[in-house]
Amino acid sequence: MLISRRPHVRLSAIATAVLALEAAGCGIGSKCPDNDPETGAFQGVVKGPDLANARKDGNTDAERCEAACRVVADEELDEIVTCEVIGPADDPDHPWAEGVEELTVTCTATFTPHQFCTGRRPQGHHEADIVVQSRPAWFAVHAHLERAAVTAFRELAEWLAVRGAPASLVARCREAAADEVRHADALEALARRDGAEVPPARADPPADDLFAVACHNAVEGCVSEAFAAIVAAHQAGHARSLELRALFSRLAADELRHGQLAWDLHAWLWDQLTSAQQTALAELQARALADLPVSSRRAAAATPRELGWPGPDHAARMAELFAGRLRAAAGLAA
Ligand SMILES: [Fe+2]
Ligand SMILES: [Fe+2]
Repeated sequence: MLISRRPHVRLSAIATAVLALEAAGCGIGSKCPDNDPETGAFQGVVKGPDLANARKDGNTDAERCEAACRVVADEELDEIVTCEVIGPADDPDHPWAEGVEELTVTCTATFTPHQFCTGRRPQGHHEADIVVQSRPAWFAVHAHLERAAVTAFRELAEWLAVRGAPASLVARCREAAADEVRHADALEALARRDGAEVPPARADPPADDLFAVACHNAVEGCVSEAFAAIVAAHQAGHARSLELRALFSRLAADELRHGQLAWDLHAWLWDQLTSAQQTALAELQARALADLPVSSRRAAAATPRELGWPGPDHAARMAELFAGRLRAAAGLAA
């Protein structure tokens, strides 16, 4: 049964709990699945942008070897135990020299089997027609979504100002729009560098109705964007290149603020709804949380591993943890 009470959610506490449980390999409740670290051997050829990144990511040859090992491994590695590279036949002692076009890396490492969204779309958003099967396409879709989030926050700030919302909520939406411009620019640059074009963000005019805005915020902000913050935090710790880890670290901090803004906005909107609308809103949000593990599993399956997402099973488990914590904090039904 749904409890229609004014939701009060501290997202940072939930994000911290989800990431800590996920790092410990825990599922719902107190039961942890059997996923002790394993040791595996990996070998492969590193070349092109991967080789350039590995060369850049390490200060010593040992660190460069570890970066290359993370490229060839098909798991998210915990600790690299041994690592060796074989360079070109004509200069085998200097595999990391500029001009070397490819090298072979052999390494052993421990990894934890089973490893793990997108942000806020505006009302009336038109989905981009791109199939995500590669790193360039992933950057293109996410740059598109970040650009769409700029529109979402600008529209929201304008709507809130007209409705006489607290000035702090309006200001936070404007700051969030500025954050989303930076996110979109950064991801678009990566998409272009990989040769992908970013489809323009298009949306129909937003609805003016308070209940429609509340429904949109309850799903896109309180669920999608809040979960995106947790995914970005995971990427900050697991993406293969230092460049991407630094980027996702900035995105995670911003998205966590946006997710909290969504919940603070949710509370302000909640007070202006009828009890029937509050019940309908809670049901809508509960459905969005129930759907999150399935959609996260699909998104994880389409995301190249080098970008720091966990595998599909892990993503679904993370979404379940997140949904469980949010339900408890917001008084929502399972
Ligand atoms: Fe963003
Ligand atoms: Fe955001």
